[in-house]
Amino acid sequence: MTIISPSVLSADFAYLADDIKKVEAAGAKYLHLDVMDGAFVPNITFGAPVIKRLRKHSNIVFDVHLMIERPERYIDDFVSAGADVITIHAESTDKIEETLSYIRSKGIKAAVSVKPNTPVEAIFPYLPMLDMVLIMTVEPGFGGQKLIPETLPKIRALKEYADANGYSIDIEVDGGISADNIGLVTQNGANIIVAGSAVFGAED
Ligand code: DX5
Ligand code: ZN
Repeated sequence: MTIISPSVLSADFAYLADDIKKVEAAGAKYLHLDVMDGAFVPNITFGAPVIKRLRKHSNIVFDVHLMIERPERYIDDFVSAGADVITIHAESTDKIEETLSYIRSKGIKAAVSVKPNTPVEAIFPYLPMLDMVLIMTVEPGFGGQKLIPETLPKIRALKEYADANGYSIDIEVDGGISADNIGLVTQNGANIIVAGSAVFGAED
């Protein structure tokens, strides 16, 4: 089944709870929460306190994408804020393995993400400790960018490797995805689709 994970980065931050209720009513099962620290990426968004407040307004799956340096420092905060899935970046820490097992030890799902220039093979060794892999289809940092087509073969390479080796993982894609090109990512093997501007920037 294909799941859409609307990214609140393109929602109206003054009315986040209302916007979340709207996407939930429209059938979204996941909600993508982009946490940026101004260091790992050149943009700053929000942290665990905001997520904790939102948790009271919705039971939707909180899909937390950490674009922060050394995310291991903040896992406890995001777990207690109510994250259901936590994604860390392969490029953001030298403690990938420890951080993934720590996330899982808290009873939630662990995921790792690769930026467009990081080969997907870099995360193959971590597949046994992963529930999901997030393949960035744009450079992380901002919503509303264009999908980078060179990232598509990474989705297929991961899908084929995971299937061939018996790893049943979700493959999420993030950046520049809309109704016009969603087929490209699903045909390559992605099953969780982040959509920011395509959802919150839409008329309806
Ligand atoms: C970008 C974020 C994305 C962003 C996607 O760094 O990780 O989740 O919100 O936005 P769109 O769908 O507009 O490209
Ligand atoms: Zn994201």
